[in-house]
Amino acid sequence: MHAATLAAATAALCLAALAAPALAQPPGSNPGLPPSATATGLAPQKITDMAVRDLQAQFNYSDKDLLSFLMNTECLDATFDSWAAFGSGMDPALFGGGPAPIGGRKAGLSPEIQVWAEEVARDEIGHVRILREALGADAPACPLMDIDKAFEKFFNTAFNTTGVVWDPYKNDVNFVLSTFMLEEIGATGDQGVTAFAATNGNITNVALAGGLSGSAGYQSAADRYILWTRRDEIVPEFNVTVAQFLDKMSALRQFYTGKLHIDQPLLMEVLNILVGGSTDGKGWFFPDGVNGRIKEPVPLNPNVPEELLAQANAPYTIVASQGQVTPLTVQPPSGNATEMLVSQLAG
Ligand SMILES: *[C@@H]1O[C@H](CO)[C@@H](O)[C@H](O)[C@H]1NC(C)=O
Ligand SMILES: *[C@@H]1O[C@H](CO)[C@@H](O)[C@H](O)[C@H]1NC(C)=O
Ligand SMILES: *[C@@H]1O[C@H](CO)[C@@H](O)[C@H](O)[C@H]1NC(C)=O
Ligand SMILES: *[C@@H]1O[C@H](CO)[C@@H](O)[C@H](O)[C@H]1NC(C)=O
Ligand SMILES: *[C@@H]1O[C@H](CO)[C@@H](O)[C@H](O)[C@H]1NC(C)=O
Repeated sequence: MHAATLAAATAALCLAALAAPALAQPPGSNPGLPPSATATGLAPQKITDMAVRDLQAQFNYSDKDLLSFLMNTECLDATFDSWAAFGSGMDPALFGGGPAPIGGRKAGLSPEIQVWAEEVARDEIGHVRILREALGADAPACPLMDIDKAFEKFFNTAFNTTGVVWDPYKNDVNFVLSTFMLEEIGATGDQGVTAFAATNGNITNVALAGGLSGSAGYQSAADRYILWTRRDEIVPEFNVTVAQFLDKMSALRQFYTGKLHIDQPLLMEVLNILVGGSTDGKGWFFPDGVNGRIKEPVPLNPNVPEELLAQANAPYTIVASQGQVTPLTVQPPSGNATEMLVSQLAG
């Protein structure tokens, strides 16, 4: 075949391959889709800017409050990953005197994923350490964490099922799906603290939170790649493929992030996801709530103009190749988050 023809045929095949999953997947999820461009005039970023200023005017969170919030999510990541990789928790000094977690055991991993789990665990434990260094004597203990049934509650809610048993330590796929779910939420929290810390002007702490965000982002990306290579494998607990599983996970997260249909780095939303929408901030991964001043997932929605929210939620195009911007348009979720979840669960 002529080279140009082959290229055209390959491009057509790629488009065909991309088109099917793209149309089946809601915005904001899509493992392995091509880069998406949001024609939104930086609306999500402006929302973050306005919302962070608004919340700071109300609550005046100090860097201690902000970094303490991250201690909770980093303790959760580090504790789960440490148990899964090593069969034991973090160094007690890093645990800060918090209560033993509920659950935790060595995961049944293949040699390949075992190495990866160890690297992620060390990295996450490092995040707890750097937060303890920054906070010094002000550092809170790790809170009570459920690293057993909380995953089951999360995924049963995502699939609108009851009583499906989910063991995050069972095998490679269950572990990577579980750790990826936490890691991505953690990345959003880190990004949020970066924006909040900017209002306080301590560049050391802005750099610290920004670094955690980058780190969580690349760990998530590697998890995502591992899952992409196994996207057609069936997850027997829910009888769906890995790709379908990720969509359900994403849909649930969108449901808990409020009016904006994308993850937004407002710390209340991060907490809302981890506690399953419990208004007192106690549930799922944090049965007794989190430590520090930022404890409740309210106010959930940013106080910003509706036009800006609509702009951020507008349809977006997928960029399939350079210079070609509109091969397919993904419809945004219609209606509000509740309606969206209902329709996605039904689908
Ligand atoms: C915010 O906190 C800082 C330091 O913690 C304090 O100096 C300032 O007065 C506070 N501002 C308001 C509006 O409470
Ligand atoms: C900024 O925060 C760090 C802790 O992360 C602290 O050591 C440093 O003193 C702070 N800088 C200022 C100017 O307050
Ligand atoms: C799993 O799903 C497939 C396709 O949706 C279906 O054909 C099959 O019967 C299901 N198996 C079980 C055990 O539910
Ligand atoms: C969102 O949809 C649900 C279900 O249709 C409805 O009960 C709720 O009032 C809606 N919320 C808003 C803000 O429109
Ligand atoms: C969830 O399942 C229950 C019954 O098990 C059903 O009544 C409800 O409509 C389902 N919700 C969604 C969003 O599909």
